[in-house]
Amino acid sequence: MDLRKRPRRLRGGEAVRRMVRETRMDKASLIYPMFVMDGENRKEEIPSMEGQYRYSVDRMGECLQELQDAGVTAVMLFGIPAVKDELGSQAYAEDGIVQRALRYAREHFPQMYLVTDVCMCEYTSHGHCGVLAGHDVDNDRTLELLAKTALSHVQAGADMVAPSDMMDGRVLAIRNTLDAHGFSHIPVMSYAVKYASAFYGPFRDAAGSAPAFGDRRSYQMDFHNSREGIKEALLDEEEGADIIMVKPAMSYLDMVTKVKEAVHVPVASYSVSGEYAMVKAAAKQGWIDEERVICEMAASAYRAGSDIYITYFAKELAKFMDEGRIG
Ligand code: PBG
Repeated sequence: MDLRKRPRRLRGGEAVRRMVRETRMDKASLIYPMFVMDGENRKEEIPSMEGQYRYSVDRMGECLQELQDAGVTAVMLFGIPAVKDELGSQAYAEDGIVQRALRYAREHFPQMYLVTDVCMCEYTSHGHCGVLAGHDVDNDRTLELLAKTALSHVQAGADMVAPSDMMDGRVLAIRNTLDAHGFSHIPVMSYAVKYASAFYGPFRDAAGSAPAFGDRRSYQMDFHNSREGIKEALLDEEEGADIIMVKPAMSYLDMVTKVKEAVHVPVASYSVSGEYAMVKAAAKQGWIDEERVICEMAASAYRAGSDIYITYFAKELAKFMDEGRIG
């Protein structure tokens, strides 16, 4: 054979394969989503997310220590309050669950970068992401509560806030409120391109946040749409978002690539609870090699253009990166 070009030459051994890797990953770009709950001395495994737990504040240090030891430097906090009400008032309560978790983490883990999910659905009795007007969420009334929630997180020690509600105008509302209170230096990571997805199922189990009626399709995006995602990303960038997120990750990597081309801020992707649960379930059956699948999923997210990767496998990935298996 007279073949001048032979792609296999650069696959001949581990050294050359690693030399020509096109995607480089770094532990510093991982964010671990973490559930904190009311109560004392609680560490409860989430049934649909084996290996993931809800922690009471007095035990969250165990998880933060493991992350710190693994070299994961950022977490995103989700709160599970003991009581929920119509207006989700625990979301912005000074002694709310996330606010207390932030003060604890700030004091005991000063190096950890603390991001918070800003949304109402874990806190409302009806499980929707805002204030109801009849059977729908009232966009503009919700903005005020989201801004209040973000401000209370920052006052309790959050380094960054991440609104995930999908109300129109919430990035601007949060930005204005933070600025007015002397927090113009705090970045906003917007869940800008967030689809109405069945992949959130296990999360809603974990947080008890499934909507009591209806679904989230009047605010989260229709999964048939792509240009609409670019519109969302551009609007949020204009409103002052510092980072744009695409969510879920695995089935939406086309959007990561497109958003990356459209915006001038870092792009994050979130490998959500359903992605985690599928890997765990199949691995338990012996149907896939869990570790290799975790590496492949992460590499594909970065290859598509993610600058930041939010994943329940952050600790495992940090280890695989240390071992040189990926990265
Ligand atoms: C809150 C929120 C959700 C997730 C992140 N923030 C749930 C939802 O929108 O229903 C999902 C995360 C996951 O599935 O891992 N709105």
